[in-house]
Amino acid sequence: MSTQSASDRPPKVTTQTVVEMKQQQEKISMLTAYDYTMAKIVDQAGIDVILVGDSASNVMAGHETTVPMTMDHMLYHASCVVRAVDRALVIADLPFMSYQVTAKEALISSGRMMKEAGVHGVKLEGGAVISDTIKRIVDAGIPVMGHLGLTPQSIYKFGTYKVRAKEEAEADQLLMDAKTLEECGVFSIVLEKIPSVLAAEVTRSVSVPTIGIGAGPECDGQVLVLHDMLGLNKEFRPRFLRRYADLHSTMTDAVQQYIKDVKSVDFPGKDEQY
Ligand code: KIV
Repeated sequence: MSTQSASDRPPKVTTQTVVEMKQQQEKISMLTAYDYTMAKIVDQAGIDVILVGDSASNVMAGHETTVPMTMDHMLYHASCVVRAVDRALVIADLPFMSYQVTAKEALISSGRMMKEAGVHGVKLEGGAVISDTIKRIVDAGIPVMGHLGLTPQSIYKFGTYKVRAKEEAEADQLLMDAKTLEECGVFSIVLEKIPSVLAAEVTRSVSVPTIGIGAGPECDGQVLVLHDMLGLNKEFRPRFLRRYADLHSTMTDAVQQYIKDVKSVDFPGKDEQY
């Protein structure tokens, strides 16, 4: 039986909480997670929002892009994360082609993510072109997080992962898209890889929180891919990434020590057997 009463438990983060955090000028922390064990660590460490990103395609599955991700893949990752989380708000990406064809299909995909995986909301990439779709999902009572700037599902249209909206026309469009997303009822917007000055302007122009990745310090919150910030990946070194650990080296050392111990019959020792 649990000895923790309801009043001892930290309050759960909701979509309203993150909107209030913007109003109270408290920064929002967000990280990705794709599995039970990692999500439990991240939640217990006190993160505000966990994103089950379709970056699982790169990080977990070894694909070059997020394009191959399917609803079944995302439902699997999202349900693993949901089982681990007590406090954080859990948002899942809708994968490529699960929401672009029709608003009806987008609503069905969002509903599956909520009912089958148990997430608290969904994230979709794009601006005004998907406004009807976002309205339809929000009208059904499903919280939506927007995503503007570098939208990795469109990588074959962009052709590169370089910074977006450096030119005035694209920057103006992005600002308009952010306002449209707000009007459609999103509760927050991810801004990926855009100039800090533009991210600051967007942040001032909308009442919902912006969460930046490579978008500077004036966003209302920040998000990083967990495996990148933990230093599990040696090759990926964009300017915006701060590494908080070198788990690649820590894990390599541990595995090499284990191999040595097995070969030398140091492991298992006297106290490690029955
Ligand atoms: O899929 C993902 O991890 C994301 C973040 C980079 C925002 O969309």
